[in-house]
Amino acid sequence: MRKPLVAGNWKMNASRADAQTLIEQLVDGFSGIDCEALVCPPSVYLPMVCEWLSGSGIAVGGQNCSQHASGAYTGEVSAEMLKDVGCQYVIVGHSERRALYGETDQVVVEKFAAAQKSGLIPILCVGETLAERQSGNALSVIARQVDAVIDQLGKKAFCHAVIAYEPVWAIGTGETATPDQAEEIHAAIRAQVAAVDAGSAESLRILYGGSVNPANAETLFLMPNIDGGLVGGASLKANEFLTICQAAKG
Ligand code: PGA
Repeated sequence: MRKPLVAGNWKMNASRADAQTLIEQLVDGFSGIDCEALVCPPSVYLPMVCEWLSGSGIAVGGQNCSQHASGAYTGEVSAEMLKDVGCQYVIVGHSERRALYGETDQVVVEKFAAAQKSGLIPILCVGETLAERQSGNALSVIARQVDAVIDQLGKKAFCHAVIAYEPVWAIGTGETATPDQAEEIHAAIRAQVAAVDAGSAESLRILYGGSVNPANAETLFLMPNIDGGLVGGASLKANEFLTICQAAKG
């Protein structure tokens, strides 16, 4: 039985004061909700958010990490540093990183490996653009993104990891994949992982992301292969994020 996970990706939003208010509201509202919740604030707030959340049952993750362990990489933050300040997870390969910062499958695999080496659970984002969907290539694009990890890190790569399926056309657009569209991709991802390691496929949580909100979360989470969500915009409002967590509870 997979415990659902709802992760909030704040992206580059919120002041320190906003962050504190949001965390206080989340802590107040979270008790009794039986899903795993995670917030991924901007990296400068991570140490304080980890402190504010200690003992709350809500986990903290980074939005990105370097593929390198340490050294002359100005502006970068290593997976080890995220772990050091209390993170348990890190998002890797978000489509905004791939599109705006040129992250290739190869770089994403290296970040995934760096995260696992530091004891973090990587959340690997995969997803197709609108053009790729319209040309009938959604499944092959996602298979390529998942394969890049298996090819280099081996059959057990997804044993301690999470995958988030985020169709690029649904991110921040208000347009969501239908539950059936998402389920088709999630089932294909699980089958792909099962083909190399049935055990990790069974326990692997595959999140859906892309305009998840309180109105659409429940029908998405009812699908057998959707194990929670990666939530952007709605994670900045405590009541919306909590309602989504409520919809995911086991
Ligand atoms: P959104 O973002 O919920 O605002 O569409 C999701 C994401 O990019 O992780």
